[in-house]
Amino acid sequence: MKIHRAEEIWLIIGVAIIVLSMVITGYQAFAQGFAPPSGMEPIDPQKVDETEPFDNPGVFEVGENEYEVVMTLQAFSFTPNEIEIPAGATVHFTMTSKDVIHGIQIPGTNMNAMVMPGHVQKITETFDEPGEYLVICNEYCGTGHQLMSTTITVK
Ligand code: CUA
Repeated sequence: MKIHRAEEIWLIIGVAIIVLSMVITGYQAFAQGFAPPSGMEPIDPQKVDETEPFDNPGVFEVGENEYEVVMTLQAFSFTPNEIEIPAGATVHFTMTSKDVIHGIQIPGTNMNAMVMPGHVQKITETFDEPGEYLVICNEYCGTGHQLMSTTITVK
């Protein structure tokens, strides 16, 4: 069977593009360490309660108009449960799971992430509009999954 010359050229270009993108993504992932942020910092999921900073979950003022929320997720709750922060503040969430894979989603914001046991998940978010923000778990985590929620009050 004879392949048409133009078809052969386009076939080579197509394969070359695929190989090139695999090389670029592979280089970024392995050589430059571009990976999901949740995978960067490991933690022993059995010892979350004894591991800093999760031995003391809560809301901490870390700078001018800057807060850190240290949070653990477990079936079927968020700790701390009620969070209050000023409007417009920069909020750094530092999170991990004590058991299974959970999710954190705050409708109306960009916040939507998986929180996995064995990994520390870090997200920075700013809440400009005052109000009550609903925080929900969006990864099925067991029989109480639909009850797993809390609120963030922005004043
Ligand atoms: Cu936690 Cu669903």
